Amino acid sequence: MKLLLLGLGLILVCAHEEGNDVVRSNIDDSKISGYWYSILLASDVREKIEEGGSMRVFVKHIEVLSNSSLLFNMSTKVDGKCTEISVLTNKTEKDGEYSVVYDGYNVFSIVETDYTGYIVFHLVNIKEEHTFQLMKLYAREPDVSEEVKKRFVKYCQKHGIVEENIIDLTKVDRCLHTQGSEEDQDSSAE
Ligand SMILES: *[C@@H]1O[C@H](CO)[C@@H](O)[C@H](O)[C@H]1NC(C)=O
Ligand SMILES: *[C@@H]1O[C@H](CO)[C@@H](O)[C@H](O)[C@H]1NC(C)=O
Ligand SMILES: *[C@@H]1O[C@H](CO)[C@@H](O)[C@H](O)[C@H]1NC(C)=O
Repeated sequence: MKLLLLGLGLILVCAHEEGNDVVRSNIDDSKISGYWYSILLASDVREKIEEGGSMRVFVKHIEVLSNSSLLFNMSTKVDGKCTEISVLTNKTEKDGEYSVVYDGYNVFSIVETDYTGYIVFHLVNIKEEHTFQLMKLYAREPDVSEEVKKRFVKYCQKHGIVEENIIDLTKVDRCLHTQGSEEDQDSSAE
């Protein structure tokens, strides 16, 4: 029985890879590791993602640790200067869901991904009885197709986030000069 299930699993995995299909459940977390770029960022509390907002962060790399925690290496601007931050998130019992303490308590999940092109996250932040939502679109390349962006906008609408609250990060300084080795970052930080 186990072998049969394993075989079936392998067939499903292969079928997936051929079509480069979009997945929304049974997400294979290990496949989201690697380098990413922030593309679109949205929130129902716009200040959080505006300049100086705690959630205005730019992803650089995601590492899937052996205990299933995700390590996000990101950049954010502190007084106009790009600064590296690392955020460790814990896996929850739910498929594709994680929690992290960052400007409050956050639970986020993977909404949709094709692993090799883009990924969409939905996050809920709870802080002192206040709550807000965040949606993020990351891509493997510095930009992504209009089609994917439109899908993201639809997801935002579904969660009640208006289009005016979606920020196109491809049009701002995403601290891309820090997308390199530690040494590069140090020299470009001055
Ligand atoms: C997972 O491993 C990392 C690195 O060793 C550690 O810092 C983190 O606390 C671990 N997470 C959990 C939930 O134990
Ligand atoms: C991510 O950040 C951690 C902690 O600063 C660092 O040890 C690690 O090398 C970084 N990973 C990448 C791929 O930059
Ligand atoms: C993540 O796991 C670590 C280690 O078990 C724990 O100290 C930390 O509080 C957890 N964070 C969240 C947000 O659950």
